[in-house]
Amino acid sequence: MQRTFAIIKPDAVAAGHQGAILAKIQEAGLRIVALKSLRLTKAQAEGFYAVHRERPFFGSLVTFMTEGPVVALCLEGENAIKRWRDLMGPTNASEAPKDTLRGQFGTSIERNATHGSDAPETAAYELGFFFSGLELADLG
Ligand code: RTP
Ligand code: MG
Repeated sequence: MQRTFAIIKPDAVAAGHQGAILAKIQEAGLRIVALKSLRLTKAQAEGFYAVHRERPFFGSLVTFMTEGPVVALCLEGENAIKRWRDLMGPTNASEAPKDTLRGQFGTSIERNATHGSDAPETAAYELGFFFSGLELADLG
């Protein structure tokens, strides 16, 4: 079993696509361990995307990620990191296949509807950034 961290980004939340995206997650057999809705502050978005701080799109990305509420998720399943990234599709939503979440709900390379961790180490870091140990404890 593996866990990954996912975000339904502000563009998809503002467009009312949370329910459709959550349904796709469940249809794919990924279990929702934890879920919360929040609006990121500028400092939180900068911290979350710190790995990209030297990239030319960093300022625009932070503005986008703070423009409205997001849904943060912990997803669990066999090979969850890759399965969630496959469901999302490629970064550039305007080139993503229409049967992927970004192809269906995103509109550009930046406004691409969803986030997913890219490796076990980043998943652990990102889950800890958004959720407490108690929220991830899966107490049944
Ligand atoms: P994510 O981290 O959000 O799951 O996306 P990703 O791995 O597919 O893409 P990454 O390279 O990590 O980029 C993070 C987010 O930055 C925005 N972006 N804008 N304008 C641009 O050229 C550009 N490139 C990336 C996207 O919102 C991307 O998801
Ligand atoms: Mg990334």
